[in-house]
Amino acid sequence: MLTPHDDPVEIQGARVWVVGATGGLGGLLARGLAAGGARVALAGRDPERLAALAAELGGAPTQVLDAVDVESGRSAATAAAQALGGLDVVVVATGVVAFGPAADADDAVVEELFAVNTLGPMSLVRAALPQLADGGAVVLLSAIVADAPTLQMAEYSASKAALSAWASVLRRELRSRRVAVLDVKPPHVDTGLVDRALAGTPPRLPAGFDPQAVVDAVLAGVRAGSREVVLDPGAGELVLR
Ligand SMILES: NC(=O)c1ccc[n+]([C@@H]2O[C@H](COP(=O)([O-])OP(=O)(O)OC[C@H]3O[C@@H](n4cnc5c(N)ncnc54)[C@H](OP(=O)(O)O)[C@@H]3O)[C@@H](O)[C@H]2O)c1
Repeated sequence: MLTPHDDPVEIQGARVWVVGATGGLGGLLARGLAAGGARVALAGRDPERLAALAAELGGAPTQVLDAVDVESGRSAATAAAQALGGLDVVVVATGVVAFGPAADADDAVVEELFAVNTLGPMSLVRAALPQLADGGAVVLLSAIVADAPTLQMAEYSASKAALSAWASVLRRELRSRRVAVLDVKPPHVDTGLVDRALAGTPPRLPAGFDPQAVVDAVLAGVRAGSREVVLDPGAGELVLR
């Protein structure tokens, strides 16, 4: 199932910008990348939790940003690249969820879902691309619902499907720079995301996947230059393709 990219990315020594580093998956990804020998810069919107993680990781540089504020994203990308002397990998792990029937969705909630899950990551990656070395990697967190839109999650599914479609074109357009674009499509993961929903209560969900398994798959996908991390429903495990 593993389809290697022409130019796999070496994590040891890589300069990695992790956006959404205060989140469940973002924090574990930052720790996993640092443990693999990467030099990380950490961005998020909560300065205190960001500082705590930075201290845990030996004084990593931090940038406070709001993912929906284009200007703060741009200056954070520049600051991260300056702090690390350039970027080899960009990881965007910000995201929000909301639940409820499509017919009843609140317009303001739908706007925030698309701002944080779709427009924000697109803008952050655009901001980082001029700083990203050729042969590097972009990692985006969409979700299984990008391929399998789910009842009571129409807008979340649509926001992730849009991000995923964008990522698939970006991947082809960045081929000339040998930049890999890894679209991570996990099923429900135990990070508490669903308990922080912008609206509604979650429908019955399968047991939450182990967040560390997602992180391990992402690191393997970066190293292999893969296109996607997806669930193999038969095996019940994440695979690269
Ligand atoms: N958990 C799952 O079941 C699951 C499944 C598939 C895909 N995913 C995707 O994986 C990604 C990470 O999710 P997670 O499970 O780690 O959730 P999480 O723990 O809630 O992390 C989400 C992060 O996004 C940040 N964020 C939200 N709005 C923001 C904004 N406007 N500006 C800056 N940061 C913002 C949050 O910041 P604060 O810390 O300040 O709130 C938090 O750090 C998301 O894109 C999610 O959709 C998750």
